[in-house]
Amino acid sequence: MTTSQSEKDRVVIFDTTLRDGEQCPGATMTHEEKLEVAELLDQMGVDIIEAGFPIASEGDFAAVHEIAKRTRNAVVCGLSRAAFNDIDRCAEAIKPAERKRIHTFLSTSPVHMKWKLQKEPHEVLDMVIAQVTRARNHVDDVEWSAEDGTRTEFDFLCRCIEAAIKAGATTINIPDTVGYTVPEEYFDMFKRVRENVPNSDKARFSVHCHNDLGMAVANSLAGVKAGCRQIECTINGIGERAGNAALEEVVMAMKVRNDVLPFWTGVDATMLTRASKLVAAATSFPVQYNKAIVGRNAFAHESGIHQDGMLKNAQTYEIMTPETVGVKQTSLVMGKHSGRHAFVHKLEEMGYHLQSNQLEDAFVRFKALADRKKHIYDEDIEALVDEEIAHAQDRIKLVSLSVIAGTRGPQRATMKLDIDGKQMIEECEGNGPVDAVFNCVKAMVPHDAVLELYQVHAVTAGTDAQAEVSVRLSENGRAVTSKGSDPDTLVASAKAYLGALNKLLIKRHRGNGETLVVGQRRIHSTEVG
Ligand code: KIV
Ligand code: ZN
Repeated sequence: MTTSQSEKDRVVIFDTTLRDGEQCPGATMTHEEKLEVAELLDQMGVDIIEAGFPIASEGDFAAVHEIAKRTRNAVVCGLSRAAFNDIDRCAEAIKPAERKRIHTFLSTSPVHMKWKLQKEPHEVLDMVIAQVTRARNHVDDVEWSAEDGTRTEFDFLCRCIEAAIKAGATTINIPDTVGYTVPEEYFDMFKRVRENVPNSDKARFSVHCHNDLGMAVANSLAGVKAGCRQIECTINGIGERAGNAALEEVVMAMKVRNDVLPFWTGVDATMLTRASKLVAAATSFPVQYNKAIVGRNAFAHESGIHQDGMLKNAQTYEIMTPETVGVKQTSLVMGKHSGRHAFVHKLEEMGYHLQSNQLEDAFVRFKALADRKKHIYDEDIEALVDEEIAHAQDRIKLVSLSVIAGTRGPQRATMKLDIDGKQMIEECEGNGPVDAVFNCVKAMVPHDAVLELYQVHAVTAGTDAQAEVSVRLSENGRAVTSKGSDPDTLVASAKAYLGALNKLLIKRHRGNGETLVVGQRRIHSTEVG
């Protein structure tokens, strides 16, 4: 707590990743994974860990029991319905915990009472008293939840809450079970409940919001504004249907907008990213890329305008630093929207310092590559710049290439080269597309060099990865190798071959003082431009 933080503004974080989160379809965790998640939640300063629903299965019981044994700081909580055997089983599961809570719930809305419980309101009221009393016989810390609270008739809700507090509940939770409410309505409900329930000052009020309309976090914060001091939430917002309020979002909203949400929690925000990754891995539930706070794009910028702003001052496009949530650094993602400024910055980061004309060429080629390739990795930029540097002095340059390949053959290539500033075009057939490409080169640049090696590999993973082709040519005992890269393997092959030829020309020139003869016109070669 800092000097400006007072105890009355402290919001207790109740994490239900292991209960409401784990109960959603497909998010099941193993026993070991549950223990690992609970340990991290405890370390990061979560106040209450809802570890499971002990009556649900032997596995749930065992996990809650083990978490109760191991947890050092947080209160360990188990969930139970209103039935006594349910509550007793829950009490048994949490028994070893240093600090323990029973969370017991009952539906109070007309639709749930009629169809789910098939009980009259007066019967439900009696059950509330009985369930809380039973739980209090086991522990001092009892939470009672009015399931489907936001669709419950207001006077009945108040009567149930008053009865639960009287029976000994220390926390009263009014869940928005079906994600139906809106912030103003949820705020209003809590305000009125707290004003109307005579003993409301004897309990802490809690929010528990589902995200069916995408308002779980906004609703939770509205509840806090109305006086609630406990938020029930899950890491990554996992939970039934559209999920629960995301822990990382509520925590960071109160931190970043403390001017309008003057509340605080005990959560160490720098552990949020780690927790998100752990839960995503344990549940095999991927985090959506643009998820607030912990999505992989949350601190990534691709647009040229944004990258330029970020390089001048991070506050232009970031409302919190990545370090505050445990991300090492902002990432400027290189893609088709990136501008020259970001490209230069990236090159400098990678240790390249190009001259302005080289830089210009490299940037043009980078943009062309980004138009064709979804993800541009550092390796792609490296390949592109290396090629730029290696071939800056080349006399023979590839201008364009198109190839017809496939099962029907013969394969045919049409190639345009720039040879000493003159453009030539040639069309050749070949025994396969690579052969057709190389025949075009031979037609426009006649030579006796022997192809000793031709090798292809992918620069990065994925079907849109750049191909990197290596070629070795030898002529009169002189051997040269060269590489070419491009998402198109045939273009990469042509570049590699031409690169090797360019090197051979230099060697010949240096070695013998021969005059270089390139660009001899063959019968089908046409000079263009
Ligand atoms: O959403 C809900 O109502 C619940 C209760 C069990 C608290 O998860
Ligand atoms: Zn729930």
